[in-house]
Amino acid sequence: MQSTTQVNWQSIREDFPILHQQVHGKPLIYFDSAASSQKPRAVIDALRHYYEHDHANVHRGLHVLSTRATEAYEAARAKVATYLNAASVDEIIFTRGTTEGINLVANTWGVKFLREGDVILLTEMEHHSNLVPWQLLAERTGARLRFVPVREDGTLELGALDSLLTSEVKLFSFTHISNSLGTINPVADLCAAARAVGAVSLVDAAQSAGHVPIDVRALGCDFLAFSGHKMCGPTGIGALYGRAELLDAMPPWHGGGEMILSVTYEKSTYKQSPQRFEAGTPNIADAVGLGAAIDYIESIGRSAIFEHDAALAAYAQDGLAALPGVRVLGPRQRGGLVGFVMEAAHPHDLTTYADQHGLALRGGHHCNQPLMRKMGLPGTTRASFYFYNTKAEIDRMLEILEAAVRFFAA
Ligand SMILES: Cc1ncc(COP(=O)(O)O)c(C=O)c1O
Repeated sequence: MQSTTQVNWQSIREDFPILHQQVHGKPLIYFDSAASSQKPRAVIDALRHYYEHDHANVHRGLHVLSTRATEAYEAARAKVATYLNAASVDEIIFTRGTTEGINLVANTWGVKFLREGDVILLTEMEHHSNLVPWQLLAERTGARLRFVPVREDGTLELGALDSLLTSEVKLFSFTHISNSLGTINPVADLCAAARAVGAVSLVDAAQSAGHVPIDVRALGCDFLAFSGHKMCGPTGIGALYGRAELLDAMPPWHGGGEMILSVTYEKSTYKQSPQRFEAGTPNIADAVGLGAAIDYIESIGRSAIFEHDAALAAYAQDGLAALPGVRVLGPRQRGGLVGFVMEAAHPHDLTTYADQHGLALRGGHHCNQPLMRKMGLPGTTRASFYFYNTKAEIDRMLEILEAAVRFFAA
């Protein structure tokens, strides 16, 4: 494992071809990695290699290419299992991403086990992906939703857990790192609190999987979902971790090829996890790409990445807070992103202005509409960082935003 000082961050930046271009005649500054990260050459090459040498359908062929494709696909699953320290590869289900992983749990575990009067506990900072599937499930089952409040400083009101996490709660689903506030939630404590009342826990790791070490057994979570595209991998691939005992008890969601043991015209029997939850031809190439992304991230080390990104976020937070009419949201201890509001400009206008200077920010509600409403904001502007970003880019962002303050106030 390397520390930040041992990593050659400048040479890592060279691994990302897309970063070396001009936008509107200015050098690109990409500060939108929380929405989707950029891809290193190693991942692009792995996709190309797979399609140029190994592609065929998986699991059912008895020829060389099918065997190679199957081995590559299953090797990627093993990499995810090791990355998360899962007890078994069978606990890893490939999905399209975090959203699909959460919907899978809602539509299988949720439909089977939730009843009228049961409670699904969420937090007020959840992304729509970790809210809407539970609203749909509640409508279907008669379960109710409850929310752990978010305090003024962007952290969870943990004191409210005693009254919220009652025996009626069957599921506690929450984000590891908030995509709009940057807040890092105490996952192990929240999972332990859920376990204490017999509730199942689900961690939305969309903003953490590529940024911090994750050990599902040490965290004590029952489910954890993440997206490959936010951690150097391709779009359209992610994974759901589920504890074996829970997966074994869950019915299938999608029906089709690959997930069955035997089929008659009337009825079918199903394989165990993970095949039970992967009907049809899977996204083989992008799973292979995700495996390459994991190798790449691990060659740097997630602790070094976290240190690097948190240092950038702290530097940006200080710089932004010093700009007139700018307010930074969220706590000091944060992941690699900073959300802020500029009094003089709507986030959409500010983001468009920044784009004209080559600076890619994101403005809007960030799929956190209820949280924005609670904070009384139409939205925020977000700068999100990854290990290929630099302090010099943040300095440039601050110059652009300082000019924006003057521009919009005029
Ligand atoms: C916290 C959080 N959860 C879930 C998601 C959804 O991820 P995806 O769109 O890759 O399924 C996102 C994406 O921004 C996110 O930030």
